[in-house]
Amino acid sequence: MQTQTVQTTNSLSMTKMDLSARLAKLHEIIRGRYDFIDRVSIALYDAKTDLLKTFVSSDSTQTALHSYEARISDVPSLQKLIHSRQSRIVQDMDITFQGNNSSTHTDWLHHQRFLSSYTIPIFNGNTFVAFLFFDSRKPNVFQPEILAFLDVFADLAAHLYLLEMAAVKSLINTVHLATDFARIRDLETGNHLDRMAKYSRLIARGVAERYNLSDEFIEHVHLFAPLHDIGKVGIPDRVLLKSGKLDVNEWDTMHKHVELGVKMIDQMVDDLGLNLDSASAIMRNIVAGHHERGDGSGYPLGLTLEQIPLEARIVAIADVYDALSTARPYKTAWTEEDVITELQKEVAAGRLDAHCVEALLNAAEERLEIQARFADPV
Ligand code: C2E
Ligand code: SIN
Ligand code: SIN
Ligand code: FE
Ligand code: FE
Repeated sequence: MQTQTVQTTNSLSMTKMDLSARLAKLHEIIRGRYDFIDRVSIALYDAKTDLLKTFVSSDSTQTALHSYEARISDVPSLQKLIHSRQSRIVQDMDITFQGNNSSTHTDWLHHQRFLSSYTIPIFNGNTFVAFLFFDSRKPNVFQPEILAFLDVFADLAAHLYLLEMAAVKSLINTVHLATDFARIRDLETGNHLDRMAKYSRLIARGVAERYNLSDEFIEHVHLFAPLHDIGKVGIPDRVLLKSGKLDVNEWDTMHKHVELGVKMIDQMVDDLGLNLDSASAIMRNIVAGHHERGDGSGYPLGLTLEQIPLEARIVAIADVYDALSTARPYKTAWTEEDVITELQKEVAAGRLDAHCVEALLNAAEERLEIQARFADPV
């Protein structure tokens, strides 16, 4: 990010910047006028799970609240805003939330010494989709003329946000349609896709601090991990569903699922006229790099560990973990113990990212919960 302060509406609507960058830019402009606004963030609402989670944030102190999640039904104060469609001003956190109303979020806000906040619910038509938060370390800053100014920015941010989400969703829908249509989901069940999403996110969260990952990156990995094998659509059933070992020719065919997948992704991004720089790059890297291995033994390019994008290293581990722990046409399910030993061998051989494997293995409870919750039907 450069640091010029003068921006026109036109440059803000540039689609080439990713959402985090745009929000940071917005924050910069707001701070140019009101320097006491220390944080601007968006928390995304997922109606399916009733979870509210940070999607992007911008913070002058760089201490983002990573991967914060809360069930809306557990936060009545925010729930009220959704029902009334009203914004909320908290002028002094210490007075408003004395003791009784504590939650992870309010605790965190206290910890960061945010004293006042302005919260705006964002709707897409009649559907609640997100909260926009402005936080300040000073009390009583949100006075009427400032609110009018912030509302303009809220409109703009909401607009950018909804545009981005609509584009990402249309992409995902297209991919699901394509995979449904091509019967790949008979083989790669919905549960497999869910497990890939959840394991990948679990790993990403576990290394978020070490690799300095934004919540937006983590959400995109979660969203796109299920697409890693989209190229299998183009592999003939006699190879894909073979119950025994593949011969040399069949392996040649199977290996092509990576290049095929990349072609499909590129085509789709092109067809949809999507301009989602960071999102489509993450998606493409996952498809292109999920069979690369740190020692250069992977395919198609034989990259070494540092050359493999992190999102691909993460999904590779989720893929191997899931392939080993479940039954496939060519193998039975392994015991958890054997799976762990195999992953550790892969790390020792320099083939998988050690920190990412550690993140998955350390999160035993979450890992096994995902396994159980999205188990294949027997
Ligand atoms: P998949 O079943 O989704 O397996 C994904 C990846 O899990 C494999 O990619 C491999 O990296 C890892 N994996 C599977 N078994 C083992 C194992 O015993 N040890 C370790 N360390 N890793 C393992 P890979 O090998 O590139 O295979 C890609 C796809 O090719 C597989 O996807 C599967 O669809 C197919 N495939 C692989 N082996 C066979 C086979 O023996 N017979 C048949 N019919 N298909 C196979
Ligand atoms: C929360 O805990 O997520 C929000 C509490 C509040 O600001 O109402
Ligand atoms: C968040 O959960 O990070 C958004 C809440 C806030 O910034 O006030
Ligand atoms: Fe694959
Ligand atoms: Fe796979």
